[in-house]
Amino acid sequence: MKFDLRQLFRKKQVQEPVQVKAMPQHIAVIMDGNGRWAKQRGLPRTMGHKHGAANFKRIARYAASIGVRYFTVYAFSTENWRRPAEEVNALIDLFIQYLVEAERDFSEENMRVRFLGDVAAFPEKLQDLIRTIEAKSADRDGMTLGICLNYGGRPEITHAARKLAEQVKAGALEPEQITEEMISAHLYCPDIPDPDLIIRPSGELRLSNFLLWQAAYSEFVFMNVLWPDFSPENLEEAIDQYTGRNRRFGGV
Ligand code: FPP
Repeated sequence: MKFDLRQLFRKKQVQEPVQVKAMPQHIAVIMDGNGRWAKQRGLPRTMGHKHGAANFKRIARYAASIGVRYFTVYAFSTENWRRPAEEVNALIDLFIQYLVEAERDFSEENMRVRFLGDVAAFPEKLQDLIRTIEAKSADRDGMTLGICLNYGGRPEITHAARKLAEQVKAGALEPEQITEEMISAHLYCPDIPDPDLIIRPSGELRLSNFLLWQAAYSEFVFMNVLWPDFSPENLEEAIDQYTGRNRRFGGV
């Protein structure tokens, strides 16, 4: 029974999966373990990121191929600036290289690409690329790929709080009128639904400031595999764990 649902889903032979939980519509991944992957091989950390970036492309395409509607990856956190300049610069170069390729490749897959985070901190070349990719992919109706760059969950909530505070200051809103929905509506990408499933490879058991608001009712799968080795089978395994769980959203 394990993989049959996705097999059927791919072939579009079933409209309504019977007695089986639906595929998660939004999967988010913390792409962790690039540094350790490189260290295990006696390579510089930047080589781990290079293999991690190649794997990002492979897994995003695989997710799209099995019918995932939203796939979000944590590529660079607001805390990652603390790394040595050489590593940060190598990461920025990789983002540029892979996003140039992605613009071409992901259009074949009909993917819409959104960026979450304060991208104004990056070099102009990367910012231009981000704007171009978002604009060019805006009308596509395939999988939405969310890429978190200079992203932090706390800065995102702070950003939403400031936006609402501006409305209060302008007299357009009373503090007691503020609702959870309004906070959600002022996050970076309010059109992306909350993640159903968050996967963290590499063996670390924490959220690291990722999608703090949106993760309130997400299911978590932690896996002992380093990101460059994370395979389509690992993604299937995480989805299987998810479909086997009982989501109650605080109810019984
Ligand atoms: C965490 O592993 C990984 C990162 C900080 C970078 C992730 C970025 C990529 C995989 C490139 C993605 C490319 C695009 C275009 C989105 P780590 O370095 O913290 O690993 P460690 O914990 O083993 O040191």
